[in-house]
Amino acid sequence: MHPGFTVFLTGLSGAGKSTIADILIERLGEAGRLVSTLDGDIVREMLSSELTFSRADRDLNIRRIGWVAGEITKHGGAVVVAAIAPYDAAREEARALIDRHGTFVLVHVATPLEVTEQRDVKGLYARARSGEITSFTGVSDVYELPSAPDLVVDGSVGTPGDSAQQILDHLAERGLLPG
Ligand code: ADX
Repeated sequence: MHPGFTVFLTGLSGAGKSTIADILIERLGEAGRLVSTLDGDIVREMLSSELTFSRADRDLNIRRIGWVAGEITKHGGAVVVAAIAPYDAAREEARALIDRHGTFVLVHVATPLEVTEQRDVKGLYARARSGEITSFTGVSDVYELPSAPDLVVDGSVGTPGDSAQQILDHLAERGLLPG
């Protein structure tokens, strides 16, 4: 059986988490490792559709993700999570849910707010600035810096492929890749 692990990408909306996750998953597949994905946007549609962006609901969203990831990790699976997960305590709670079954790798996709806001791919920053969307991470709600990231990548430096490669190298160093 492979060693189970969860790579948890945290960072602002528009930081590049999903793009990096997609490339990471593709390269893990090429290396012979199939991956389950828990992407914030999809989780909020399939598992957490009733939740808001209040602190309590975000905490519950991350707890659900951590629990599912732990269940997959327990049986030797590989998981890639991409979620804003703005609160450190919730991220560390997810770590605890996964650590007991395998390896938890917290990756901070530390793209600066100026860059994510300027990109504004979904137009949400503009809507947050105008007050149409409330409690928006980085604008009207906090993003707490991870206190214990295993790796920090900056989505504004190099390509998403470069960031994915940094994560793969980290996984290889920790003996988590096949072969
Ligand atoms: S988390 O805070 O609970 O981890 P999650 O990653 O699931 O967030 O969902 C974030 C996505 O929801 C963002 O990429 C964005 O498209 C959307 N979104 C809608 N409202 C907000 C908000 N108030 N703050 C952050 N993201 C929001």
